[in-house]
Amino acid sequence: MERIDKVIASALNVSRNDARTLIKKGLVTVGSKAVRDIGTKVDEKCDELFCDGKRVQYSKFIYIMMNKPKGVISASEGKGEKTVIDILPAEMKRKNLFPAGRLDKDTTGFMLITDDGDFAHKILSPKNHIPKTYIAVLDKPFNDEIISEFEKGIELKNDVLMPAKIKPLDSEYMTAQVTISQGMYHQIKRMFAKFSITVLELKRISMGALPLDDSLKEGECRYITQNELDLIEKGKLL
Ligand code: URA
Repeated sequence: MERIDKVIASALNVSRNDARTLIKKGLVTVGSKAVRDIGTKVDEKCDELFCDGKRVQYSKFIYIMMNKPKGVISASEGKGEKTVIDILPAEMKRKNLFPAGRLDKDTTGFMLITDDGDFAHKILSPKNHIPKTYIAVLDKPFNDEIISEFEKGIELKNDVLMPAKIKPLDSEYMTAQVTISQGMYHQIKRMFAKFSITVLELKRISMGALPLDDSLKEGECRYITQNELDLIEKGKLL
């Protein structure tokens, strides 16, 4: 159980004083009941909290699935550039959120945003072999030889990459579905570049066994459920 003023302050990313003002004004409800006592305790497992009619997400950690658009960087601080944290809707913003892993500025698709460092570490560590699957649109066709090179694991300038799976999504071999379990800098682009192929478009479509929710338009996001988190960790290939 946690004090409601602390929960509201942290979930809405406002000061404890501002949270108390919201509560005293009767804007905060537990279920449908307005609570004006700032010392009320709430249970994160079962109490549903609302502020001004909007659901307040207040579990210890939060996990957000974003369909990342092009043009934003996957970092917490942009130093002048727009980040995936900047474009979160106001009601989802809270302290310490960061993107779990990197997507290039021009890559779209499944970006996981959380404040749970342990979980992020678990799903990103190459040791845990959690697959991440992408669709890559290419400037030239790939072929069966490249498929087998990807499957063996490619050697790049300073990195030896773990085996990756690749399959064509069209008869011309111009669009590939690629699954990797590492997250090296520009990994997929560099893998294709080794064979003089340029990746024109790149979209991440799943993490572990959890696909990107295809109802999310680019730039949109939603909370990830506990069952879905388990799917990421199980890491089965799609
Ligand atoms: N590989 C890349 O080249 N870019 C990404 O954004 C992700 C994987």
